[in-house]
Amino acid sequence: MQDLWDSVDRYIEHALLRADDPLSSVQQESAAAGLPQISVSPSQGKLLFVLAKAMRARRILELGTLAGYSGTWLARALPADGRLVTVEIDPKHADVARRSFGRTGVSHLVDVRVQPALEALRQLVGEGAGPFDFIFIDADKVNYPQYLEWAIRLSRAGTLIVIDNVVRSGEVADSSSTDPAVLAVRQMMSLLERDARVTATAIQTVGVKGYDGFAAVVVN
Ligand code: SAH
Ligand code: DHB
Ligand code: MG
Repeated sequence: MQDLWDSVDRYIEHALLRADDPLSSVQQESAAAGLPQISVSPSQGKLLFVLAKAMRARRILELGTLAGYSGTWLARALPADGRLVTVEIDPKHADVARRSFGRTGVSHLVDVRVQPALEALRQLVGEGAGPFDFIFIDADKVNYPQYLEWAIRLSRAGTLIVIDNVVRSGEVADSSSTDPAVLAVRQMMSLLERDARVTATAIQTVGVKGYDGFAAVVVN
C-alpha cells in the first residue's frame, strides 16, 4: 500500500502545494546536514497552517523543531505581530532550523529555544508566557503525558493542541505493547479521555510518512 499512499500524496502536493516553495529547500538542507527525515509531510504541514490560520492563532508553541519544516508552516499562519516559540533539545537541529527560518523569511516571528522541552515548558509557565492559541507536540514520545499536562497549563479555552505520531503503524492499539513510546502515547490518550479540561479525538493518517496519526485536542 505504501506505493499507493506515496503516489496520492505526490498527487495532492502537485495539485495543492507550490513546487517552488522555499520550504522544499528546508528538506534538502536538512537531509544534507544529516538530520533524520522525520518531519511532517508537505500535506500535513499545510494542514497545520490551515488549522492555525483558521483559528487566527497569534501565539503558537511547538515542541520538537528538528529542521524547522513544521515550524515554517506554523509561522506562516501568524499575523505580523504573532510569535512561534519552538523548542529543540539538539543544538545541531536548532542551527539548521534557524537557517531554515531565515531562508523561508519567518525568522522575525520565531523564537527557537534550545533546551529539553520539559525545562522550556516549566520556564514558560514561570515567565507567565501564554496562553498559546495553538500547540503542536512533536518531540520525544515518551514524555507525551507530561507535555500534555504542561500544554494545557499554557492554554486558554479554545486552544487547539495537535499531537503527532499517535498511531505508529497501529501499534497504539496493542494493549500488550512494551514499547515505551507506545505506552506513553496510550497513557496520554487515557489522560485525554479522563481530563475534564479537554475534549479530544485522534485521526489515522496514511501517506509518504507511512501509517500514523494525529490527536486533536481542544481546551474547554
Ligand atoms: N516538528 C518537526 C519534527 C520534529 S522531530 C517537523 O515536523 O518538522 C522530533 C524533534 O524533537 C527532534 O529534532 C528531536 O531532537 C527533538 N527532541 C527530542 N527530545 C526532545 C526533548 N526532550 N526536548 C526537546 N526536543 C526534543
Ligand atoms: C519519529 C518522530 C517523529 O516526530 C515522526 O513524525 C516520525 C518518526 C521517530 O522518532 O522515529
Ligand atoms: Mg512527528
